[in-house]
Amino acid sequence: MSNRQLKTCVITGAAGGIGRALADEFHRAGYEVIATDRVTRPEYLSCDHYLQIDLASLVEDEAYAKNTFARIREFLGGRGLNALVNNAAIQILGGADSLTREDWRQTLDVNLVAPFLVTQALLHELESVEGSVVNISSIHARVTKKNFVAYATSKAALSAMTRALAVDLGPRVRVNAIEPAAIETGMLKAGFEGKPELYRQLEACHPQKRIGQPEEVAHLALAMVKSGMSFLQGACIGIDGGIANRLFDPG
Ligand SMILES: NC(=O)c1ccc[n+]([C@@H]2O[C@H](COP(=O)([O-])OP(=O)(O)OC[C@H]3O[C@@H](n4cnc5c(N)ncnc54)[C@H](O)[C@@H]3O)[C@@H](O)[C@H]2O)c1
Repeated sequence: MSNRQLKTCVITGAAGGIGRALADEFHRAGYEVIATDRVTRPEYLSCDHYLQIDLASLVEDEAYAKNTFARIREFLGGRGLNALVNNAAIQILGGADSLTREDWRQTLDVNLVAPFLVTQALLHELESVEGSVVNISSIHARVTKKNFVAYATSKAALSAMTRALAVDLGPRVRVNAIEPAAIETGMLKAGFEGKPELYRQLEACHPQKRIGQPEEVAHLALAMVKSGMSFLQGACIGIDGGIANRLFDPG
């Protein structure tokens, strides 16, 4: 039997639209993929190991977190971790009039505190192989719209945490982020349910005249973790069809 050691990666939110593309991309690139999500393992997922975990429970419950990290280490079997992609997130819509304490707690736990705790727990494994972290942030980290107050705040904090961790951890571990705009996934479509005209307008207002595909985010994530990219540290890279450059002033 071959003694070849595969590169390893952990992906959270792997059952979602972008998560699935990430798992496919890393698997195709020869990584041993440890996929996690709160749902049961979907049949379509390309991964070597699957762990059903709830990141909200991981933040709330230390014993649950300890057990989760032990199970990830079991899959690693003493090997290092080449890539951690913190991809899972929730998007609770609401503005200043409606957001509740619970909305804030859930949003910050899943979108911000969990990526920190997972990164912290796997630091040794990452450092041992000059591994790197990719946080899937959002264009909402920089520009946003009505009713995205909790989500946008959590993503701005995730991008800020990416920069702070890069300073804190460099050169031991690289930490970078991707800030996608509209990507064609369940999360995006849910926001446009029953509004086909709005969806068409969304496509049209991007300079690229379309929204993005999950595979495009996955290609970028893989490129960012490559060993030849070791000067990329604390970068938050937009993949947005150009929309973040566009003013919507009339005239
Ligand atoms: N789709 C877009 O337009 C878009 C744009 C910018 C950023 N993003 C970001 O990309 C990432 C992936 O989003 P997506 O569009 O694939 O969404 P998605 O809803 O399809 O996938 C998110 C995944 O996270 C998982 N998840 C949610 N809460 C969890 C929890 N408590 N514990 C464990 N897993 C949990 C879900 O089960 C789901 O599989 C997210 O971080 C999202 O904020 C998406």
